[in-house]
Amino acid sequence: MPVILFGTTTMTNETLLHLLFFLSLLVLQNSCIVDSAQCKRRPIIFNFGDSNSDTGGASAGLGSQFGPFEGRIFPTGYTGRLCDGRLIIDFLCESVNSSYLSPYLESLGPNFTNGANFAIAGAGTLSRERAFSLHIQVQQFLHFKNRIHELASKGSVTPIDEDEFPGAIYTIDIGQNDIAYAFTHLSYSQVIDNNPLILNEIKDAVQTIYNNGGRNFWLHSTGPLGCLPQKLSICGKNTSNLDPYGCLINFNSAAKSFNDGLRSLRDAMQSQLSNATIVYTDVFAIKYDLIVNSGKYGFDNPLMACCGNGGPPYNFNPSAMCGGPGSQACTDGSRYASWDGVHYTEAANAIVASRILSANYSTPALKFDYFCNQ
Ligand SMILES: *[C@@H]1O[C@H](CO)[C@@H](O)[C@H](O)[C@H]1NC(C)=O
Ligand SMILES: *[C@@H]1O[C@H](CO)[C@@H](O)[C@H](O)[C@H]1NC(C)=O
Ligand SMILES: *[C@@H]1O[C@H](CO)[C@@H](O)[C@H](O)[C@H]1NC(C)=O
Ligand SMILES: *[C@@H]1O[C@H](CO)[C@@H](O)[C@H](O)[C@H]1NC(C)=O
Ligand SMILES: *[C@@H]1O[C@H](CO)[C@@H](O)[C@H](O)[C@H]1NC(C)=O
Repeated sequence: MPVILFGTTTMTNETLLHLLFFLSLLVLQNSCIVDSAQCKRRPIIFNFGDSNSDTGGASAGLGSQFGPFEGRIFPTGYTGRLCDGRLIIDFLCESVNSSYLSPYLESLGPNFTNGANFAIAGAGTLSRERAFSLHIQVQQFLHFKNRIHELASKGSVTPIDEDEFPGAIYTIDIGQNDIAYAFTHLSYSQVIDNNPLILNEIKDAVQTIYNNGGRNFWLHSTGPLGCLPQKLSICGKNTSNLDPYGCLINFNSAAKSFNDGLRSLRDAMQSQLSNATIVYTDVFAIKYDLIVNSGKYGFDNPLMACCGNGGPPYNFNPSAMCGGPGSQACTDGSRYASWDGVHYTEAANAIVASRILSANYSTPALKFDYFCNQ
């Protein structure tokens, strides 16, 4: 049976069942940074995705609780991120001097002056009508945009002006849960055949946002699924399934195949959509490098979770996941790439974000601030 997404035991069974449909993965991040950009106008960011970029959406929308270790080094403590601290999206926000994104579903004190975050831990693209798939997230965005229009036309003050939507950036990081879920019930070749269905949903999301005025897009490739301690704890015993760095070959091949498709999709949409700028960033390459060159980054054992149960080699136990009874967190998260077996530590996220911001992994090689500097 599928292993769960969020490492927590405090969700209701109903919520769990609901989420099992997606299976999830998440990722998170770390600190430091990089050159801060001076935007010519206020940066507005609308983000869509799963736990890799969920800044509290599952906590707001599903009541999920990831305590007690989550957010332990985040300046304000618990935030509903699946990480000890900041996520990649938080570092991207910092790089353009934007405040962190409030979850769209946050009912108390959200601040949407720099955009909104529709990402929800556990989300995928399929099935498209299930909360909170990418399609639903895009529908929520359209609702948000319509509400701004309604309020503005009544003369109310709105967090974002209507004319700021075309100059906003629309960031998407999704697919990991779809691929992980596919592996729970499909053969390898069926998993590969399923990728175009996922990509079609991403295509639909970009097209829908474009039809509603969006012009700047930022697509993250999916990470090396086969290097996650969660996956390794289940399938890593048979060493003939492992690559030289200890990651699962078939999971990573499926992720790479998906990413090839995403890059082709970018190229096709770039030529079809007039005046749009669509950037693809190879997050897989960056995250895999954290494993391959772990020593360089001070990650003592890149395939072992900081927070979990069971000890080496993976410190992942599906019945005592990070935050649940029986789990423990390491003292120094900066020595681990994996936070909870599925999501990355802030330390890892900081490195990933700085690489993303270098533009070296992007097609075309635009800096993240391109959208607010025109
Ligand atoms: C960031 O925003 C603050 C407050 O609006 C401003 O004082 C500062 O100059 C900005 N920094 C950059 C690098 O844009
Ligand atoms: C919302 O965030 C912006 C940008 O950081 C800030 O200037 C503003 O004061 C915040 N609004 C509230 C109500 O906190
Ligand atoms: C190990 O994996 C290989 C390749 O997937 C497979 O052929 C072999 O049967 C597996 N061995 C065991 C003991 O499961
Ligand atoms: C593209 O930009 C040009 C120049 O600003 C404008 O005339 C044209 O209508 C735009 N086309 C679309 C489809 O947005
Ligand atoms: C990006 O590429 C340039 C030129 O190859 C290199 O000097 C720089 O170190 C790279 N930066 C990152 C973060 O990889």
